[in-house]
Amino acid sequence: MSEGIALAPLARGTLLEPAARLARLEEALPLIRSAVEGETDAVALQATLACLLWETFAQTNWCGFYRRVGESVLAVGPYQGTMGCLRIDFDRGVCGACARTREVQLVPDVHAFPGHIACDERTRSELVVPVVARGELRAVLDLDSPHIGAFSRPEADALLPLVRDVFDRPDVRW
Ligand code: SME
Repeated sequence: MSEGIALAPLARGTLLEPAARLARLEEALPLIRSAVEGETDAVALQATLACLLWETFAQTNWCGFYRRVGESVLAVGPYQGTMGCLRIDFDRGVCGACARTREVQLVPDVHAFPGHIACDERTRSELVVPVVARGELRAVLDLDSPHIGAFSRPEADALLPLVRDVFDRPDVRW
């Protein structure tokens, strides 16, 4: 089902081949940019991206944001999917590693990632992208999948400029 943007419907959990996943993402990106154009409220932006990326990334069981709410702690933000942990310290899990290092975390098998947080024990792979605005780590975008190796470097590389362009703007209100 795809109501927010006009993508081919895919059953939740479907893992396409890498080339088809990238093609689907590249088709979605201009539609997502257009959907949020002119919006300056960070929660409205996060909620809409969580919704539209959930539609785009059919392989996910969780898609959304953790927001920085203290010096080194994240709290759950707008998301789609199964119940997520409410708080994550910077020194824990894949999201914490992303917040701490401000670097994309591409984890093909979470069981091989020291300190992985099993909010949903079915999750097997993750992609986490830092949200930095005006030099400050504001949030992370977390994509989780029950499939091993469900995310690729090209998908990460395509998401980074979207996240940067949507959030790293002087008019966005946090
Ligand atoms: N698995 C993540 C925690 C967040 S959720 O699973 C929604 C991690 O290790 O950072």
